[in-house]
Amino acid sequence: MLLSVNGVSLAYGAAQALFDVSLKVEEGEVVTLLGANGAGKSSILKTVVGMYHPFAGTIEFNGQRIEALPTDRIVPMGLALVPEDRGVFPGLTVFENLQMGTVSWRRRGMKIDADLDKVFALFPRLKERQNQLAWSLSGGEQQMLATARGIMSRPKLLMLDEPSIGLAPLLVSQVFKTISEIQKTGTSILLVEQNARMALNVATRAYVLETGKIALEGSPKELLQNEKVKNAYLGA
Ligand SMILES: Nc1ncnc2c1ncn2[C@@H]1O[C@H](COP(=O)(O)OP(=O)(O)O)[C@@H](O)[C@H]1O
Ligand SMILES: [Mg+2]
Repeated sequence: MLLSVNGVSLAYGAAQALFDVSLKVEEGEVVTLLGANGAGKSSILKTVVGMYHPFAGTIEFNGQRIEALPTDRIVPMGLALVPEDRGVFPGLTVFENLQMGTVSWRRRGMKIDADLDKVFALFPRLKERQNQLAWSLSGGEQQMLATARGIMSRPKLLMLDEPSIGLAPLLVSQVFKTISEIQKTGTSILLVEQNARMALNVATRAYVLETGKIALEGSPKELLQNEKVKNAYLGA
């Protein structure tokens, strides 16, 4: 088991956001987490990467307990989060942003050429624009850069928080195509998405989160046929 979240509960001050959440990601999987706005999807990803610490439950990554560790200890273990706001450094070039992705493993003198080749193969657009400042990229290109920077950290598990948000339909399908390509390179993915239908099309397994609780778990096929999912998330 790559990631195992066991009975995690999280509170922001007096407000509880996650209630006894359990979920798993096995090696090679693309697991998608669906849920309405405010359900707690981002809270789960941020808790996994150590930005918040649960008041109950455990999180295991690659056989190690991580729920009490800070982010800078967790990322080098092979876990990366591409946040919803993308978090690119606007005043740095594309190349410099990609370099930032390597700080978790890179030591003096180490080459990053092979890592760059890998992300440029996934995102040829970034190669063309590597000397451009990040603020000047389009929304779709910034999403590519954020994802590419995540890959530069050499994650075993890449967590993507709503990668298709705010993108034009053509770019949305490209995001999902890229997700499948990343999976093929051997990286597992935990994907949070509003676009339930497309997420279920690339996923190996899925969870539905409702007001901080896991309400459903199943194969994409099961969830695509589930009446509740159809009504609430597929706009059937
Ligand atoms: N840093 C925070 N401080 C206080 N409340 C927060 C914080 N982040 C999220 N919340 C609250 O936790 C709940 C879940 O939020 P979030 O995880 O962002 O949901 P989602 O990603 O599914 O939209 C919401 O009620 C939100 O207002
Ligand atoms: Mg969110």
